Amino acid sequence: METTRRKFIEICVAGATPCAAMAASPATPAAIASTPLTAKKYNRVKLVDIDGKAIKAKSLKAHHNYVFNYPYASTPCFLLNLDKALPEKVSMKTDTGGTYDWPGGVGVSKSIVAYSAICAHKLAYPTPQVSFISYRPQPSKINARGQVISCCADKSVYDPFIGARVVSGPAPQPLAAILLEHDAKTDELFAIGTFGGEKFNEFFQKYDFKLSMEMGDKAKDAVTATAKLTDLAAYSTQTAQC
Ligand code: FES
Repeated sequence: METTRRKFIEICVAGATPCAAMAASPATPAAIASTPLTAKKYNRVKLVDIDGKAIKAKSLKAHHNYVFNYPYASTPCFLLNLDKALPEKVSMKTDTGGTYDWPGGVGVSKSIVAYSAICAHKLAYPTPQVSFISYRPQPSKINARGQVISCCADKSVYDPFIGARVVSGPAPQPLAAILLEHDAKTDELFAIGTFGGEKFNEFFQKYDFKLSMEMGDKAKDAVTATAKLTDLAAYSTQTAQC
């Protein structure tokens, strides 16, 4: 015990102020003030297939991993048909205290959702080579229920039925929601913006070199007019399992 105390004192000599604070008030994390967020508008883009034909909402397979890049040319998002009507409004919170109401699903059955596929923990994302993050319809080692988005990099699990809130693991906040619009007449789908804790700036910073090697100066180009929807299996050669 005395050795531990001596070590603590030695460390404190190197940085007196934090140690004084630790000694005075142990384990009282500062409360993060809540700040209501507003949805962020980006270009309104139509989701199309690889031939450029508009995707019809009714054609989406249930519990299937679809990917499209939005709102930037290098930032992937998941599109999921969860095959049941989802709650219309759920209160969510980011790690910096931002609050927002996730608006639920779109489509005739209100079952279609989209989220940024950039993990809120350390920004793992689907690349052409591998995806550590994906929707897992079946139970897995890290989630007994299944029907969750799992990131195998450090085992964060998100619930896509409830705004991609964190179910378990180190992720500090939900995946950012991608706002969708459904045209009831044509059954077409549009991405129109984001809601929640975007990670795009951190993503561009972290992967600056990699993205410039792969895409030159196009990584931060805004997606305009249309976004191509593909199967995750076509987007990434391998999907990590955990
Ligand atoms: S990067 Fe996804 S859990 Fe760490």
